[in-house]
Amino acid sequence: MTVQPPSLLRLGVNIDHVATIRNARGGSAPDPVRTAILALESGADGITAHLREDRRHISDADIDRLTQTLRAQGRPLNLEMACTQEMLYIALSHRPHAVCLVPERREERTTEGGLDVAGGHNWIAPMVGQLKANGSRVSLFVAADPAQISASAHCGAQVVELHTGAFCDAVRDGKAREAGTALDALRASARHAEDLGLEVHAGHGIDFETVEAVAAIPQLKELNIGHFLVGEAIFTGLPSAIGRMRCLMDEARQ
Ligand code: PXP
Repeated sequence: MTVQPPSLLRLGVNIDHVATIRNARGGSAPDPVRTAILALESGADGITAHLREDRRHISDADIDRLTQTLRAQGRPLNLEMACTQEMLYIALSHRPHAVCLVPERREERTTEGGLDVAGGHNWIAPMVGQLKANGSRVSLFVAADPAQISASAHCGAQVVELHTGAFCDAVRDGKAREAGTALDALRASARHAEDLGLEVHAGHGIDFETVEAVAAIPQLKELNIGHFLVGEAIFTGLPSAIGRMRCLMDEARQ
């Protein structure tokens, strides 16, 4: 299975919001699996999907089809999920290439913060162990906080995904000082994670304006981007939106 494409910085495209649009009418279009195939043809290195407890976007049937389709193509699926027994069972039975454990609250609009790994070691560590033993690479979605990163290494995770929401929100709100502080925290966290032997990813809220600063952090190996790309696809098409994002990521690494 091709799990390590040659890109300097991999792009995982999150297709959740194609499913959100489909679910608005309850039919089968637009199809997230067709989107996944197009995203991969357009320069994505992998596909990310978040199966939420309330199934507000991706469904169980989507995960079945995504797993089969991507496996047949030798491309990686990154399954985002909450740390619950229900999700653990689904991940163990599908054995996706990667699992990213995220905090989840029913009332939130999107994943608002990072996982409290430091406070949840006793239940997160066994789940990490089971997923790894089953053959999935395990990532923990955390804030740019040294304590959470150290706790992630203690839990046995192979990867941390840094939450870029604070930085991206500050840029969009024109809060330069806050953006600078958030970016410094991301940089320090990426260094800390690498020093602990963790692979470092980042994601949440990234768009064309914010991607270069994030992509320039040298320790990062993967960005996961969804909402902005799906929205931009309305105007320019998915291949063009992904192509431009890829280009900005590559330019940031030159
Ligand atoms: N990474 C993680 C762990 C996420 O939970 C999300 C949002 O589901 C993303 C990346 C993508 O964020 P966005 O859709 O804002 O690009």
